Amino acid sequence: MTLEKIIRDYEAKTPRSRALHTRAVKVMPGGNSRTTTFFDPYPFYAARGEGARIWDVDGVERLDFNGNYTSLILGHAPPEVVKAIQEAAALGASFPAPTEHEVRLAEILTQRIPSVEAVRFANSGTEATLNAVRAARAFTGRHKIAKFEGAYHGTHDWVMVSVTPDLKQAGSRKRPKPVAGSAGIPPAVLKHVVVLPWNDPEACEKILVREGDVLAALLVDPLLGIGGVLPPAPGFLERLRDITARLGILIIFDEVISFRVAPGGAQERFGIRPDLTTLGKIIGGGLPVGAFGGRADVMAVFDPRGGRGRISHGGTFNANPLTMAAGVATLEALIPERYRHLEALGERLRSGVTRLLRRTKRGGQVTGVGSLFCLHWTKKRLTDYRSSRPSDPGEPVRVFMGLLNQGVLLTQRGLGCCSVAMTEADVDRFLTALEGILENDRR
Ligand SMILES: Cc1ncc(COP(=O)(O)O)c(C=O)c1O
Repeated sequence: MTLEKIIRDYEAKTPRSRALHTRAVKVMPGGNSRTTTFFDPYPFYAARGEGARIWDVDGVERLDFNGNYTSLILGHAPPEVVKAIQEAAALGASFPAPTEHEVRLAEILTQRIPSVEAVRFANSGTEATLNAVRAARAFTGRHKIAKFEGAYHGTHDWVMVSVTPDLKQAGSRKRPKPVAGSAGIPPAVLKHVVVLPWNDPEACEKILVREGDVLAALLVDPLLGIGGVLPPAPGFLERLRDITARLGILIIFDEVISFRVAPGGAQERFGIRPDLTTLGKIIGGGLPVGAFGGRADVMAVFDPRGGRGRISHGGTFNANPLTMAAGVATLEALIPERYRHLEALGERLRSGVTRLLRRTKRGGQVTGVGSLFCLHWTKKRLTDYRSSRPSDPGEPVRVFMGLLNQGVLLTQRGLGCCSVAMTEADVDRFLTALEGILENDRR
């Protein structure tokens, strides 16, 4: 089916969303405050969510495999989290003082993640990576940071580099050049960010050794989540851990997405102990959140006692009681049985998609770990950002929009996740919807 026809179907289903968007563009650039959620011709406007489902303002129901970009691990409006938020809100939305909820969430996180000996809270994953990078610089006295091509770590200048670079500007695969990921990033930033190729340990080692003396940190999303959920090759993370330890570079695991794959995150799953960890998404139970933590000696740069703090980390809404209470309720609900459920749903979805692609002879693949998955529209062997580029850039858009019309919400790049609220029947409905699109395309 052509994109034009898919868009016509979408517009026919969503007149109220179109009307809201018409109002929105008069008061916001593009009618929008979150570029990620925008798509042409206009996004649907959400009215409510319950469990695995989300309804838009036109009353269209969709199965939600987006989960606010993997944040809603329990699904929409889980009763225990709603109750915790309501109880906290009734006592006051925020205070110029810490609360017990903050201490409780910090205790839970430090128990679940042994490498996190101390933790601090912020309001987004962006703030988490910003502060972790600053801490690494303050601790090591070095200024450069390294990151992977294709990896997303939020929207501050230091990490908006080589996220989805145009390959014409990005240099060779083994020595990628830093490419600004946005207008407005000063050229000076690019001089301080070193870019590495994912899953190529030899090339990474060469670059890290060359820059070793000046590198404060290596920032690693252990699953390259937004970059397509491309799991690390066996031994790759271990090798990075060894090289960074040898060179005195702090390794920061950005587990904003990957924390959902085990009670202690991807670092538990892969058996690696990073120096610092950044968190977000699921740990706030659906409310705005970020956290960064790790080695006590590194985190001590934030310790304000006796006026000693080397980094002042403020934030009007840091560790606000609503978010902290929602985070505690969410993590307490995530008992081992629920991780097993998520794992089984993820497996069912991935094996179902693989069978479907084989049967329909479509040049696609599905990757993933645990409850996370990503659809790819290329036949290449998937290892890194470059190999995961779709052969036809229009294909992810057609699939995303096609699924929307079939009552299934994914992300535009094909990343998706299962939630605790889902059943096997929900996964099967996803497969049926995808099958409908692939079959239609063959006609
Ligand atoms: C790995 C990773 N780090 C950081 C972020 C930024 O988090 P936030 O959107 O809360 O700023 C994201 C967001 O998707 C992410 O996937």
